[in-house]
Amino acid sequence: MTATQTTTANPFYAARIGRKAEQPEPYLDQPVYAKLPRVPRNASPVPHLTSLYHFSRAGEYGDRSYPGNCGGNLIKDLLRFYGAKSCYDPMTGSGTCRDVCRELGIYCWSSDLREGMDACDATRTPPDCFDFCWIHPPYWRQKIYSGNPLDLSQAPSVPAFLDRYKLLLANCAAALAPGGTLAVLMGDYNDREAGFVPLVYHTKRLAFELGLKQNGTDIIRFSHGASSSKKIYRSSFIPGLHDVCMLFAKS
Ligand SMILES: C[S@@+](CC[C@H](N)C(=O)[O-])C[C@H]1O[C@@H](n2cnc3c(N)ncnc32)[C@H](O)[C@@H]1O
Repeated sequence: MTATQTTTANPFYAARIGRKAEQPEPYLDQPVYAKLPRVPRNASPVPHLTSLYHFSRAGEYGDRSYPGNCGGNLIKDLLRFYGAKSCYDPMTGSGTCRDVCRELGIYCWSSDLREGMDACDATRTPPDCFDFCWIHPPYWRQKIYSGNPLDLSQAPSVPAFLDRYKLLLANCAAALAPGGTLAVLMGDYNDREAGFVPLVYHTKRLAFELGLKQNGTDIIRFSHGASSSKKIYRSSFIPGLHDVCMLFAKS
């Protein structure tokens, strides 16, 4: 608990100790501006791309109202950093990655289960010809995307989710040409029944088991605009305000 949560500025704490709540601290409702470390100069074609992705502008890509939509600017920066000429996008959702590729003139194979393409099915995976792959899978059942049992968000347990997630990662690796890059955006998830599920850890574990190598720093993406930010919870926890983009190379 932070100092604020153990004062009567926190209405739930105040109720617990039988006191009247004060006005909440202003920072709970207003943006906070933090000073970020200085970026070292280097030869990157995208110098503002660092391990802290804090841009609040999502860009005009995909549909912001689609559940789990992610902004396109991070995808754009990664495609430009790696100089990608082709991209495999098997969980396109509202088409964010597809729209970025269209703008950059990059060939993009986009599909999604809602169009009938199961990304965990190896028989539907294109051959090893792409130099970049972008996936933003469901964070298990944090958001339910459909009633289709093949949907990763429908997996009945953590082990069942991880079994299918491994198939997904294996298929993405198979679609990459040697030397290609797989970028996975994933977040940890606190499930009501299963407890805290460290999905970022599992992503790396599974990717390494499949022979992929991490080829750059994790990118911590600040979760601007997450629907959970506006909610009020009765329980006490440390809010997660980020997800993680992990970069793997096919050797
Ligand atoms: C987090 S959303 C992706 C949102 C996307 N990044 C955007 O900006 O709109 C996850 C997507 O995975 C899809 N999905 C879930 N299971 C799938 C599967 N087995 N094969 C293909 N797509 C799947 C869902 O339909 C959903 O669109």
